[in-house]
Amino acid sequence: MRKPFVAGNWKMNTDSRSSVALATGVAEGSVESAGQNVDVAVCPPFVYLRAVAGAVSSSSVAVGAQDIYFEEKGAFTGEISASMLKDIGCTYALCGHSERRHVIGETDELVNKKLTAAIAGGLLPILCVGELQSEREGGQTEEVVARHVKEGLAGLSAEKVSAVTVAYEPVWAIGTGLTATPDQAQQMHAFIRKLLSDLYDNKMADAIRILYGGSAKPGNAAELMSQGDIDGLLVGGASLKAEDFLGIIQAAV
Ligand code: 13P
Repeated sequence: MRKPFVAGNWKMNTDSRSSVALATGVAEGSVESAGQNVDVAVCPPFVYLRAVAGAVSSSSVAVGAQDIYFEEKGAFTGEISASMLKDIGCTYALCGHSERRHVIGETDELVNKKLTAAIAGGLLPILCVGELQSEREGGQTEEVVARHVKEGLAGLSAEKVSAVTVAYEPVWAIGTGLTATPDQAQQMHAFIRKLLSDLYDNKMADAIRILYGGSAKPGNAAELMSQGDIDGLLVGGASLKAEDFLGIIQAAV
């Protein structure tokens, strides 16, 4: 049985005060549900990670980074390594979020290096995959998602990949209010699980968690998570209000 997992990606939002207030609200509100029946994580901007880690430290809410760099240390101005993230209490790291792929220009090769470094550094990576609207309209959805998965995980053994969570986030559904229908999302999640089974084995594919992301909110969370291959949600906008995020966590219990 895969344990549900709800993660909030705060993106470039909050400030020093509101990040701690939001984290505290999530930690307090999820005391009963988080931990036992559902894994919960919040991913604040780098500069608030430490304060947020402190705010959730006596709860079962985990902290994740929105990105990571693949080198361990040295002359890489502006970058943050896995060991630095571990050092301040991070458990997870997003790798290959679509905004990093399409706004910043990250390639599959770079995403693979980051994900590999995250695992080597003892973090649990969340590999984000998903097609653009034009790719869906052009009938390339499966091809694009398969490439993101295969190239993102390139060179990693089944044992290493068992540390990974995959997040299917169709780019056209991110921040647009357009959610993939539960059927559309389930279809892609089943496709990803079958691909993992072909690339590795059934046991690993059965155990790995695949989250959906893209305009998830309290009102659609339960229906999305009722699908057989949707193991949780990666939430953007609705993770910025404790009440909404807690509503989504409740739907996962
Ligand atoms: P929204 O929930 O705001 O659509 O964002 C989804 C996302 O990108 C999470 O990583």
